[in-house]
Amino acid sequence: MSKQTVTITDNRTGKSIEYPIHEGIHGPSVIHSQNLYKDLGMFVYDPAFMTTASCTSKITFIDGDKGILLYRGYPIEQLAEHSSYLEVCYLLINGELPRQQQTIDFTNNINHHTMLHEGLLDFYKGFRHDAHPMSMLVGVVGALSSYYPDQIQDIKNPEHRYDAAIRLLAKMPTIAANIHKYIIGQPYIYPRNNLGYVDNFMNMMFSVPKEDYKFSETAKKALEIILILHADHEQNASTSTVRLAGSSQAHPFSCVAAGIATLWGPAHGGANEAVIKMLEQIGDIKNIPQYIKKFKDKNDPTRLMGFGHRVYKNHDPRATIIRNICHKLLKELDTTQQPLFEVAMELERIALEDDYFIERKLYPNVDFYSGMIFKALGIPLNMFTVMFAVARTVGWISQWMEMMEEPAVKIGRPRQLYTGSAQRDYVSIDNR
Ligand code: SDX
Repeated sequence: MSKQTVTITDNRTGKSIEYPIHEGIHGPSVIHSQNLYKDLGMFVYDPAFMTTASCTSKITFIDGDKGILLYRGYPIEQLAEHSSYLEVCYLLINGELPRQQQTIDFTNNINHHTMLHEGLLDFYKGFRHDAHPMSMLVGVVGALSSYYPDQIQDIKNPEHRYDAAIRLLAKMPTIAANIHKYIIGQPYIYPRNNLGYVDNFMNMMFSVPKEDYKFSETAKKALEIILILHADHEQNASTSTVRLAGSSQAHPFSCVAAGIATLWGPAHGGANEAVIKMLEQIGDIKNIPQYIKKFKDKNDPTRLMGFGHRVYKNHDPRATIIRNICHKLLKELDTTQQPLFEVAMELERIALEDDYFIERKLYPNVDFYSGMIFKALGIPLNMFTVMFAVARTVGWISQWMEMMEEPAVKIGRPRQLYTGSAQRDYVSIDNR
């Protein structure tokens, strides 16, 4: 770590303290302010963690100003073009791209853990048929921890942690596909060990007994790319939730269930579903101007879904990649989506010329286009965020593993600025 420091002076007391600056490989340096309370009796105040580095990590790097996203140092554009989702999973978990034999072993390992305990299928029956799939995903993944109690006995054991990662990566597509089948009232399609990860997932989602599901190479490539693009994203809200839950030594599957609950929000992973609802509500290009007014109106909570990002203040590199695939797929697969895509393209064009969005550096994010690809693939609207969760599982679990590898994991415990009542004595009911 570097010897540079910053000095913080409390001008009420004249006390000055130096704090070390730590520099990373890429991106902003950090001020190591952990002793601030001990030295100056104060906390750092940073609601929503706008400028707080909660950890060190070697997994993903984002440069929001330059629109850069790296997984273990590899640019997302190169991984989207040359890699596969399972290879990216290996990379995120292990830190290096797999060699031939490692690829074979990792793939076999995943393929042989895709089945669910039959008892877990009973959990689905407790949900109403119109339950939101994300409510089911939170419930079933949380319940999964009860089938693997051994994972919690020794999460300091790297082999146990690795087994937990493999099991979760392997089972998420099965859990997700079963949710879809349960809601539409069709029989579950069991995983097939002879199919690749994406083929197996789509087969479980869309095939019916005695009839396999066939989909085009373009559709398969589009889904592979979407899973790669959503795999990890530094310390976003759901990943930070998984880390905080993991810091209490909770079962890894329950930590991921907490991450799934966080991802559900429309400000986070729920945005892909909200984008389609917004585009369908706009309906036609001629209606865009009135909606742009609503998005800009301070008194109107409606936001342009799929636009803006806490980190990307230039373009979201994932949106650029996905936009091209979306255009190609809609042309080939589903021209009925063209009007939706045309409204999206016109909305993007108008928004990018509007001072309100330009001044606030609001650009399309990954969710602006992903929904249209899911729709073109025939995935139901309420399953979009489940697809995001399946993809992000590797990010959650690799960040959890990275944290648990630390020699001493301290429980996360933020403080606060108390602005409530000053201390006062109890008043009996007769005197209130
Ligand atoms: C994801 O963190 C991640 O990495 C997340 C993610 C991942 O991979 O994990 O990338 C996935 O969650 C992508 C984001 C998906 N969400 C949406 O598309 C929902 C719409 N976007 C907004 O809700 C918003 O842009 C956020 C939540 C994404 C970011 O919010 P910030 O950074 O907290 O920004 P802000 O709310 O403080 O807004 C700054 C200004 C405000 O106006 P002023 O008060 O300055 O006048 O921009 C405005 C906001 O009102 N604004 C928008 C807007 N987003 C921000 N106005 C209209 N439409 C929008 N979409």
